[in-house]
Amino acid sequence: MEVVKNNSQLTILGIESSCDDTSAAVLSNGKICSNVVASQDIHKEFGGVVPEWASRKHQLNIVPTVQSALKKADQKLENIDAIACTQGPGLMGSLLVGHSFVKGLALSTKIPFVNVDHIDAHVLAHFIDDDIPELPFLCLLVSGGHTQIVRVDSGYEITVLGRTIDDAAGEAFDKAGKMLGLSYPSGPIIDELSKSGDPLKYQFNTPKVSNLDFSFSGLKTSILYFLQKEIRKDKNFISENKNDLCASIQHTIVSYLMSKLSEAIIKTGITGIGIAGGVAANSELRKALTQLAAKYEGVAYVPRLEYCTDNAAMIAFAGKIKIEKQQFGTLSDVCFTRK
Ligand code: KG4
Ligand code: ZN
Repeated sequence: MEVVKNNSQLTILGIESSCDDTSAAVLSNGKICSNVVASQDIHKEFGGVVPEWASRKHQLNIVPTVQSALKKADQKLENIDAIACTQGPGLMGSLLVGHSFVKGLALSTKIPFVNVDHIDAHVLAHFIDDDIPELPFLCLLVSGGHTQIVRVDSGYEITVLGRTIDDAAGEAFDKAGKMLGLSYPSGPIIDELSKSGDPLKYQFNTPKVSNLDFSFSGLKTSILYFLQKEIRKDKNFISENKNDLCASIQHTIVSYLMSKLSEAIIKTGITGIGIAGGVAANSELRKALTQLAAKYEGVAYVPRLEYCTDNAAMIAFAGKIKIEKQQFGTLSDVCFTRK
């Protein structure tokens, strides 16, 4: 399959369904014209994403979400030059809904499609707006399923320098939130409650891991044991200290992420630093990144909030790069859950 238009003039429909957000976006003439996200509230009552519910909700949401993205962009399907779709990593059932939908759409309309890597797309979200990073830069990718430090040399060259060996940073927020009785996803709630809390009131052990890898499971245990000990003394401990607990947990996670990024700066000598993924929406992390860049006389790249959490704009944009490489998908392509 081949797209003959000049790449910058292409109109691309992006589709994302890797976890619990169904999203569709239209990228036309290099600009995002729509970016619609249908979130699934059902998971709140279970304290985490229930994979089977997620795929069923994607099935319900995918057609109206795509229709809404086309409408908002004032586009019709016949004007779409290519479709970009998340292939992985993510939840298999969720991925399958979006990927099968795209294959069917491509088959019936003869519009070519490209497979997009969800993690690369989070990083490439930095290039959507005009204010793009100078290359190379380091990007801390922090989401509900992944935590990595990558070196970005171009849209095609993304090298992983370190990654989590257990939980992701987003999971650390979500699991800590669950212990505090907060609903899912707890990251944004902890962020909000932290605003009126003392970040230095409680200290939690941060995991020691060599090189640029991360570990969050020790932190989770440290929070759990601390809470159990305090609740034995005072059963209202959590409710009476919720904001300080949130602020201290958030501060611990952010400081740990920044210490690893600082190590990466020293190791590589690269002082252009960015953040990506859902946790990049965190207000303390956004501030800390700017402070870290200033410390090394570098530059901080902080994407717009709507391009941090899962969205199809980043998929459409990453798809454009795949089209430039003429890497089109085929009907026999399959989804993948891990890299
Ligand atoms: O990238 P994302 O939308 O989905 C995945 O690919 O996983 O990230 C979702 C994660 C969740 O763990 C959520 O709690 C976290 O991002 N998150 C935040 C904030 N907003 C979303 N964590 C901390 N502070 C926030 N403001
Ligand atoms: Zn994501």
